[in-house]
Amino acid sequence: MGRRKREEMSQSQLQNCSSRTVKPKLEEKSTTTMEKTEDDVTLTHNNANDKVRAIFVVENASLTKGFVRKRWKILDSEEDADFLLKQKKDLNDFRPGRVYEALRAILDSKLNKAGMVGAVYVKTDQGVLFEIKPHVRIPRTCKRFCGVILELLGHKCIRDKDTNEILMRVVEEPVTRHLPVNSRVVGLSYSSEKLVDIDEYVNSGSDELNLVFVVGAMVHGKISKEYTDDFISVSNYPLSAQYCIGLICESLEHKWKIF
Ligand SMILES: C[S@@+](CC[C@H](N)C(=O)[O-])C[C@H]1O[C@@H](n2cnc3c(N)ncnc32)[C@H](O)[C@@H]1O
Repeated sequence: MGRRKREEMSQSQLQNCSSRTVKPKLEEKSTTTMEKTEDDVTLTHNNANDKVRAIFVVENASLTKGFVRKRWKILDSEEDADFLLKQKKDLNDFRPGRVYEALRAILDSKLNKAGMVGAVYVKTDQGVLFEIKPHVRIPRTCKRFCGVILELLGHKCIRDKDTNEILMRVVEEPVTRHLPVNSRVVGLSYSSEKLVDIDEYVNSGSDELNLVFVVGAMVHGKISKEYTDDFISVSNYPLSAQYCIGLICESLEHKWKIF
């Protein structure tokens, strides 16, 4: 599918978004940063240009809605163990902290602050795909992050209260329809037989291609290889998604001289 077609689709998806806005809690403002949160969703400005950038897809994010103690929430094994065990669920499948930490590693990185993260997609283990604009500062606690996600799952998008700009939105599958044409999709898994030095790997990549890194936010299992152009391991050891993302960001920061 051509780039223009993709852009048209994104436009039509935008128009379908709910008009519900994020209510501010913090009122701090500066010329470069606007904090607009209902749970701390904050906007900062990036320098937009046409350079290739890194894109991240976080798969198998455990963000499941449940009705516990008379309210809807994102289920978390640390808070809802009794509820989950009564339903004979595996506690490892309810760890929203994993995706939260992975997203913090991306969004708080120097790479992102320098405007070199092009897009961030999250696919939940319930099959919902959503996009987070890279200039959004997500809540500083997992609990508040879960509150935002609950709202996102209900209303399909989260908007900036003042500008009405969409900060997070549910998008249609597959994620490949949202990727730029000049993308190389790289899946990461401990199980891959292709062990690479991530510094060398990103340095040897073409400067014409957006590198799309797919990492899993789950405890067990591996990410889907279906849409990846390459499938790599970055260490002889099993790591967390957050740590792997840190390695990728650092390598790209070196490559692009972001200090
Ligand atoms: C806790 S691991 C899940 C374990 C899984 N067996 C796996 O495939 O790596 C979470 C994610 O971190 C990444 N990961 C962990 N160790 C890795 C390694 N040595 N090389 C590349 N990616 C790794 C993968 O993207 C994985 O989905």
